[in-house]
Amino acid sequence: MKGLRLLATGGALPGRVVTNEDLRRQVDTSDEWITTRTGIRQRYYCTENEDAATLAITAARQAMARSGLTANDIACCIVATLSAPTATPSIACRVQAALGLPEDRPAFDVNAACSGFIYAAATAHGLLTTLDGQYALVIGCEALSRMMDPTDRTTCVLFGDGAGAAVFELAENVPFAITLGARGSEAIRAGGPAACDTAPITMDGKAVFRFAVETMPRCLQTVLDRSQKTLADLAWVVCHQANSRIIDHCIKHLHAEPSKFYKNMDRHGNTSAASIPIALHEMEESGLLRPGQTLACIGFGGGLTWGGMLLTYEGRK
Ligand code: COA
Repeated sequence: MKGLRLLATGGALPGRVVTNEDLRRQVDTSDEWITTRTGIRQRYYCTENEDAATLAITAARQAMARSGLTANDIACCIVATLSAPTATPSIACRVQAALGLPEDRPAFDVNAACSGFIYAAATAHGLLTTLDGQYALVIGCEALSRMMDPTDRTTCVLFGDGAGAAVFELAENVPFAITLGARGSEAIRAGGPAACDTAPITMDGKAVFRFAVETMPRCLQTVLDRSQKTLADLAWVVCHQANSRIIDHCIKHLHAEPSKFYKNMDRHGNTSAASIPIALHEMEESGLLRPGQTLACIGFGGGLTWGGMLLTYEGRK
């Protein structure tokens, strides 16, 4: 089977920084409570002129520029999000127009909440095969600040906005594995029966925590087994950045090397589908990703959904 490899990333963060101290003035909470329970110190919120689509376009432009490819090389554009400004046009179609991607290629959004980026990458993998294409543009982006009840301290401290983009190449003989799953549950809920219903995010935090610590190590082990790799073969594990303690549980459970698990929730909070590509972008920017490295990306979240992907970082063409 052909696999995906990562060629280049892009990222975009909105203009407003919201610290734990800022939230303390908004709800009955404290910096100490938020940092010890979640590891989050600040998050970014969209300003009036920003939304998940504007962030996606910025991140996509950067990933394309870094990839060394042209718009014509991209066989499909898939966006993972649960906070698109409109149900249609999709964010992917907005990206198609903004970047001038050829019109004879598919562009659409997927919603698998915080597992969205893995679902979108898996979809791109399948589509590249179906369409006989070589390169895919995959984006994760969110404006969760627009979906939160600012008076609910159990959720408003957790989430943030942002976007990350990736250009993938379909290649022969590369280490690659994907696992995806779903279990219908109301443990995390956002929006209502109609697309225009803006019911805010609610969550059974404890149930989600239990789900996450059970799911993450299992997803990681599955992609390792399927690609006949071990943890020692991985340069990095890039988990969905919901909560530092969830990642610590995973490290403990697997007796893993903590320094392999990238963490950035202290600066971003939980950005749902954007969290993994934002992390990949930061790692590329800071030189942590080096050509030839093998990585695992693990997501989990609303739906409930989960997903894991093992792949290599190739760097630009
Ligand atoms: N500030 C201060 N106190 C808060 C608070 C806040 N922001 N949010 C909740 N509390 C209070 C609760 O009201 C409760 O008070 P009580 O004991 O008087 O009833 C107390 O803190 C403990 O609440 P609890 O919900 O038991 O805390 P917890 O240790 O389970 O931590 C989460 C809460 C949300 C941090 C934790 O459950 C979690 O991380 N869950 C996973 C969430 C997640 O990652 N979701 C996204 C998945 S994609």
